[in-house]
Amino acid sequence: CGIVGYIGHREAYPVIIKGLKRLEYRGYDSAGIVLYDGEKLKLSKTKGKVSDLEKKSAEEITTNGTIGMGHTRWATHGVPNDVNSHPHYSNSGELVIIHNGIIENYEPLKKELINRGYTFKSDTDTEVLINLIEDVQKSHNLKLGKAVQVALNQVVGAYAIVVFDIKKPNEIVAARLGSPLAIGIGENEYFIASDATPFIEYTSNAIYLEDEEMAVVRLNKGMKIRKIKDDSLVDPYIQQLQMNLEQIEKGGYDHFMLKEIYEQPSVIKDTYRGRLLANEGIIKMAGIEDNLEKFVNAQRIVIVACGTSWHAGLVAEYIFEEFTRIPVEVEYASEFRYRNPIINKGDVIIAISQSGETADTLAAIKLAKEKGAFVFGVCNVVGSSISRETHAGAYTHAGPEIGVASTKAFTTQITVLTLISLRIAKAKGTLSHSDYHNYLAELETIPEKVAEALKCNDVAKQIAAIYKDSPNCLYLGRGYNFPVALEGALKLKEISYIHAEGYPAAEMKHGPIALIDEHMPVIVIAPRQGHYDKVVSNIQEIKSRSGKIIAVVTKGDVQVRDLADHVIEIPDTVDALSPLLTTIPLQLLSYHIAVMRECNVDQPRNLAKSVTVE
Ligand code: G6P
Repeated sequence: CGIVGYIGHREAYPVIIKGLKRLEYRGYDSAGIVLYDGEKLKLSKTKGKVSDLEKKSAEEITTNGTIGMGHTRWATHGVPNDVNSHPHYSNSGELVIIHNGIIENYEPLKKELINRGYTFKSDTDTEVLINLIEDVQKSHNLKLGKAVQVALNQVVGAYAIVVFDIKKPNEIVAARLGSPLAIGIGENEYFIASDATPFIEYTSNAIYLEDEEMAVVRLNKGMKIRKIKDDSLVDPYIQQLQMNLEQIEKGGYDHFMLKEIYEQPSVIKDTYRGRLLANEGIIKMAGIEDNLEKFVNAQRIVIVACGTSWHAGLVAEYIFEEFTRIPVEVEYASEFRYRNPIINKGDVIIAISQSGETADTLAAIKLAKEKGAFVFGVCNVVGSSISRETHAGAYTHAGPEIGVASTKAFTTQITVLTLISLRIAKAKGTLSHSDYHNYLAELETIPEKVAEALKCNDVAKQIAAIYKDSPNCLYLGRGYNFPVALEGALKLKEISYIHAEGYPAAEMKHGPIALIDEHMPVIVIAPRQGHYDKVVSNIQEIKSRSGKIIAVVTKGDVQVRDLADHVIEIPDTVDALSPLLTTIPLQLLSYHIAVMRECNVDQPRNLAKSVTVE
């Protein structure tokens, strides 16, 4: 979910609506806004998107105000409808809250509050929390900040909240545990949001609340940050934001996803810039150099991640094992954390996450740390929870990724992981001198080759037009490109709602082959390097069952061209780096199919960019 709060001298309404649109990638089942006009609270909320809220609130909120907050929701408790949308009032109507996260013990708290005479309009855990705050405030005659603190100490779960009390109209209270919250500091104005994008055009000074911290923000009096548990004051660290507005706008593209696909040549370069000195044969990354021994002596590497980041982990498994000869396991963070995993001395854990906020990945990291493991993070969002929770890490430099379907984060994750394994291989001597240098030189050519691969856009569009109405789709790849098949299928599923599955090409015979007939498009990743001949045999198996073959091939390929119904060409590269190129046409294919099916590409139904609930 996304949160925006404002207190200051501007009209809060446009600040909040615009901010919510920027945060919509975090959830978009429903949205709501509340303004304080100096006398009353004005609230509007609705199922649907921020644009729906904009329409509804234009009728419902006619006065202005300089204090307010808004929310865009990804439903956890209660279906996405108007009543369950945020903000939520307390019973007296004096307190109002927006909340991101889950209050796990909401049921006993709710029962207790019902016993004390409270009533509830919604099914949400959030309404329980605001009434708990009210109950604490009234029973002990406390100020808002104190009441929030006492209430939060009774709560089990995760939250980022913003609370406003009509009796204290110059003040907003914010708190976090597990869900991110940034505070933008302007001149006698404050912005509170799930990330910095809603306030980047107003100020570049920001504070990121840590877990178990709360802020009481007062106009003219400044802000105080405290630890929720022991009430100690925190000396806030004000960061200078590096982001600019252009980075978070579409820049002429129809969708963020397309913009982000096209950014890949430059962001892959940004990711290795300053780290890869191919001519000198040097790779330097501070997080690796400082911990080189741990990697060199690692008995095993365990990668934990979710979604697309998990697919990047699978590609990395092939790369690490080949280059460094260290055994690698790749785990879904959610499975890892709940099964008492075996972690031995000498294991290194690598957590991969674009947002750096995924709840399951974060929990897996904490568990691994408890078991004494060294945990290394690969994140895109600077200062994110995972980047702070890990012992060391390396950022991808993909810039803000707004499209819910991950694209440039995936290729930059693979880039970072490739750099890491090359560095370790050098230290361990597991790659020959010439192979090592060839990989470095080849990696430097990748951005140019990705740019070349992007030229398949028109072909991808033509193919999309033919298959856009298919109910199913199969993706096949081998070796390094097996995870790319999984990722290709995930992309299509996510944004076009076509059922798609990725398989290792040879496994097709053990099941999916039963699905193949003249209606089944099969996307086969068949670059020249790798297991080309084997993949050609798989293509023949599909052809003899009348499946429709769309093949991703190396430029100049003739053999597959003869067999396939369609080919998409990409430049030649070494096997280990081929996922960086083979992914590109699959991203474009999904994109065009989704556009042609009139799906919401950047905000597919039911998904969220950053899943901060488990
Ligand atoms: C969500 C997103 C995916 C993403 C996954 C993991 O499901 O929709 O695109 O791959 O979370 O997110 P992370 O930020 O940890 O990479």
